[in-house]
Amino acid sequence: MARESESGLPIEPVYGPEALEDWDPAVKLGEPGKYPFTRGVYPTMYTGRPWTMRQYAGFGTAVESNARYKQLIANGTMGLSVAFDLPTQMGHDSDAPLAHGEVGKVGVAIDSLDDMRVLFDGIPLDKVSTSMTINAPASLLLLLYQLVAEEQGVSAHQLTGTIQNDVLKEYIARGTYIFPPKPSLRLIADIFKYCRAEIPKWNTISISGYHMAEAGASPAQEIAFTLANGIEYVRTAVAAGMDVDDFAPRLSFFFVARTTILEEVAKFRAARRIWARVMREEFGAKNPKSMMLRFHTQTAGVQLTAQQPEVNLVRVTVQALAAVLGGTQSLHTNSFDEAIALPTDKSARLALRTQQVLAYETDVTATVDPFAGSYVIEKMTDEVEAAAVELMDKVEELGGAVAAIERGFQKSEIERNAYRIAQETDAGERVVVGVNRFQLDEEEPYEPLRVDPAIEVQQAERLAKLRAERDQQAVDAALSALRKAAEGTDNVLYPMRDALRARATVGEVCNALREVWGTYVPSDAF
Ligand code: 3HC
Repeated sequence: MARESESGLPIEPVYGPEALEDWDPAVKLGEPGKYPFTRGVYPTMYTGRPWTMRQYAGFGTAVESNARYKQLIANGTMGLSVAFDLPTQMGHDSDAPLAHGEVGKVGVAIDSLDDMRVLFDGIPLDKVSTSMTINAPASLLLLLYQLVAEEQGVSAHQLTGTIQNDVLKEYIARGTYIFPPKPSLRLIADIFKYCRAEIPKWNTISISGYHMAEAGASPAQEIAFTLANGIEYVRTAVAAGMDVDDFAPRLSFFFVARTTILEEVAKFRAARRIWARVMREEFGAKNPKSMMLRFHTQTAGVQLTAQQPEVNLVRVTVQALAAVLGGTQSLHTNSFDEAIALPTDKSARLALRTQQVLAYETDVTATVDPFAGSYVIEKMTDEVEAAAVELMDKVEELGGAVAAIERGFQKSEIERNAYRIAQETDAGERVVVGVNRFQLDEEEPYEPLRVDPAIEVQQAERLAKLRAERDQQAVDAALSALRKAAEGTDNVLYPMRDALRARATVGEVCNALREVWGTYVPSDAF
């Protein structure tokens, strides 16, 4: 009796040669580092160097987060990944009424150039690659990063890193959007153009499936809706006059790794093959780098349990192994206590050590794409690919990702799957160890890390000081130039950079754009 996979596909008890009878390795597999990149984006993958161990971190003020980054670098992390608090992600200052209670809570509070300077104090920006999980205000945080680098004497051409900058998935799942789709896509095209001219090694977007997966999307839905969003961004940039090979090499992606390791490995391999085909066949890309789906992975936060939290160490290890066997370029492993609170120093270190054991104590880095040719993995890769392509075609029939979002299509598909998962868990058909089977009579106490609420007052005082000291006329002039650019077609990042350099705040810059572009109101159609 075949079990069902997370995407609703059959998993046979035994696979044999018949599973691959009409399967042509020359077409389906190719060589590692070559089209269609099924086996991975680089010819050597981890045999020369492991994936980037990039732990997502940030909380409190820039001072606390700067200390955590230095600790992570000392523990061996290979890339930084900044978590911003919700006011920053939503383009509000820490002293805005809407910010009350959220300052420094789920990430670091960044209001101005002064805060950004503290965040990277003592960290040479020509020596690290930094990912920033920021979407609607991504352009501001990128420019603040560039301005801090400028102060360090580091040229923008040396900077490497990524901004998430993926607002479409925010409308579908995560919710940190500000502007309506049209100006949001215009701003993303402006960022693509700006980076091509000013910060050429920067990855301009991290097209994310992670948050849709966390909201309940199946593996097939996760890659289908992510790649459909990717297609929308490529169309936007081409419509804005860019040649596909001018920006596509700097697109990147972000997926989840679930505990269901076989289907996850198949999912990553299918996603690479679909994207390679779309970029070559639909968009006529010529540069192989335009066809490479390079991605970051985070282990599945939604599969962590608050019960018996140490059991999460095992889940995260299996999920991390799925990402590595699937060919990820960069990886974040969740801390075992994250279902309870922010990670402690010890749990954050353990999460990183998990990656280091996989990279340096196992043999999974000794060879490229070890599952290639496996009956079950190749069969599942084909099946997940077919299921994802079918969903992508449905989005296309609705008029593309934005049109489908406005009809609530992706959201309703994901919510239907989330409901199925919840029902199976409640019925005990889906085992969650420690939650609906193998429970303890008495949970052991665990002392989590807590963020000091005084942070909000500290940030408000810093803002008052900044506003008192800066040249207000220069700020006002820069903000009106920004509004003018937003009303026209000039690239808004140049006047935005001037405003930030004059120490306009994140909230003031976003409010200037809100005045011109308005804010997004979700449709209730689903
Ligand atoms: N052979 C040849 N070259 C290789 C190689 C190999 N085997 N391995 C690496 N390299 C080269 C690459 O070509 C690259 O050089 P280039 O930039 O000049 O091309 C360099 O070494 C770095 O390698 P990668 O680009 O593969 O690795 P990075 O770590 O630098 O970048 C990425 C990975 C996926 C492309 C990038 O976009 C990235 O770092 N993304 C991270 C995104 C992230 O951290 N997101 C966090 C989200 S958390 C969140 O959303 C909220 C929470 O709630 C979930």
